[in-house]
Order: sequence, then C-alpha cells, then structure tokens
Amino acid sequence: IEMLTDIEEEIIKLKKELNAVILAHYYQESEIQDLADFVGDSLELSRRAKETRADVIVFAGVYFMAETAKILNPDKKVLIPDTEAGCSLADNCPATLFKAWREAHPDHIAVTYINSSAEVKALSDIIVTSSNAEKIIRQIPEDRPILFAPDRNLGRYLMKKTGRKMELWPGTCIVHETFSDRKILEIKLQYPDAKVIAHPECEDAVLEKADFIGSTSALLRYVQSSSDRVFIVATEPGIIHQMKKSCPDKIFISAPSDSGCACNECPYMKKNTLEKLYLCMKNQQPEVTLPKEIIEKALIPLERMFEMSK
Ligand code: 13P
Ligand code: SF4
Repeated sequence: IEMLTDIEEEIIKLKKELNAVILAHYYQESEIQDLADFVGDSLELSRRAKETRADVIVFAGVYFMAETAKILNPDKKVLIPDTEAGCSLADNCPATLFKAWREAHPDHIAVTYINSSAEVKALSDIIVTSSNAEKIIRQIPEDRPILFAPDRNLGRYLMKKTGRKMELWPGTCIVHETFSDRKILEIKLQYPDAKVIAHPECEDAVLEKADFIGSTSALLRYVQSSSDRVFIVATEPGIIHQMKKSCPDKIFISAPSDSGCACNECPYMKKNTLEKLYLCMKNQQPEVTLPKEIIEKALIPLERMFEMSK
C-alpha cells in the first residue's frame, strides 16, 4: 500500500466532512485519478453525477463536464479545481453563432457533442458522447436532416459509420488533431505487432490506421480484453495510467504528435492539480453556477441522450 501525502489525506478528510463525491476524467493526472471515487468517460461521469447521493460534487475534469453535472443536479454544489479548465471544442462553438447556424437550417435536428457549453446544449435537440453517438444517430428518422456540432472529426467518423449525411460544425480538439499518422507508422516499423487504438476526435488519416476506435472507456476495455501486448494510444496519455494499472504486462506507447513534441497532453485537463483540488474543497469554490433557464433547457436534450442510449 502506497503512503498518502498530507494533501491527499486532507482531501480524503474534506470529502467526508462535505459528504462530497470526487468524479474524475481519465485525462486527469494520475494522483487525482487515484483519489477519485469514480474515473470514467464523459457518458459514465454524467451518469454518476445523475445518480449520486452526495451533497457536493467535486468535478476533476473540464468545465463542460462540471456544467453537465450541475444541469443534472441543480440543487447540489458542484466544485471544479480550476475554472479555466476549458475545452477547445466547447470554446470554439459560441452560443450566438450556434444559434444563427440552427436558424439557417430550420428543418435540421441538432445533435450536439457533450463537449459544448451549457448554452449550446440549451439550444440543441439531443446531446451525444463518443460512446453513444452512433447508437443515437441510428435512431433518428432517415428523413430528418442532421446538424452535428462541434467536433467535425467525430462527425465525419459518424457519417462513415452510420451512412447518414450531416452538416458539420468546423470544430476540432487541439489535442487529437495533432496526432500524426506518419509518426504512428514510424512506431509501427519498430513494433510491427502493435495495435493502434484511437479516439474518434482524431483526424481521418489517423483513424484510418486504427485497429480500434472508441471513447476513453472503450479504449480501456479494448486493451483489457485484447490478447495483444503492445498498443499505440492515439488519445490523451492520461488514460495510460488506468491501462497500466489493469494490464501491467502490456506496453502502451503514447502516439506522437506531428511536430514530435510531447504536446499530446490536454492543457485544459492539466489545469487541475492536486493542490487546486484540495483548495477548491477547503474553500468550497470555485463553484459552477448556471442560470435557471439554461439548466432547464439544457436538461431536455441531456435527458433525451440518457433515454436514447439505454
Ligand atoms: P470521452 O467521452 O471518450 O472520455 O472523451 C472526452 C474528451 O474530452 C475527449 O477528448
Ligand atoms: Fe477538449 Fe480535446 Fe481536452 Fe478533450 S482533449 S477536453 S476534447 S481539448
């Protein structure tokens, strides 16, 4: 058993005092993942937030995830270690422009990736995550045209998978768009048996090289159940912590970015640190708050997501 540091012990103490639950995404630093009550992908985290009996939700993830927890729990206190933990997808899809886009396509149904602001969710018909998007899109009547925002790579991947045409918002994830298919092939030369696993936010050229594509949790399950030994992981390397924990004998190589630099870490996710996690629990802030009408409107497409992904 590993010794806990003072700060880790304090966090555990505060968790009891506040009757708080700590939810963490796989891209958080390992120390945070190890302290969390639950680590998961966006869909699992929103399900946990929906079901929790805790009084306080401490969200170790990015802002749109904490907002989602608040929409699902308007009467609970939702804390986030750093309010600047944004997301390039959510940040580059402002509600005013999204509203104009919708208005220009009045017949379309707006299917929106959970990586979006609460305001954009409030203007949408159905929310999806990378783990339920395909299933949900297949349930939309064939004659309804679809608007998909804000990730065009995920959108393009879903069009291929489902055969449905969609109008795509031109957003990308600054982390996943940097992975290089060329660099991945160079690694394959060294490890010919390596399996390439990728998140659908990657560019098409990378997805074409992938042996398996899925959400963070799906990638984790894949390596756990696979009989292969070496994996090239084309998503944020935070997930490798759980992969190594459950498969200590397997080898995980973080896919390199185009420039060869180690810039495949999500700078937003990494805004959260153990110190900031402790401070936000001690001070009970920063707290995530949202206007009542946004909460009410954003809840509708989120509930639809839960209904359609059962
Ligand atoms: P997942 O839902 O697969 O965990 O993805 C979240 C995310 O932000 C990917 O970059
Ligand atoms: Fe957003 Fe990309 Fe970071 Fe995920 S990895 S939170 S999509 S910027």
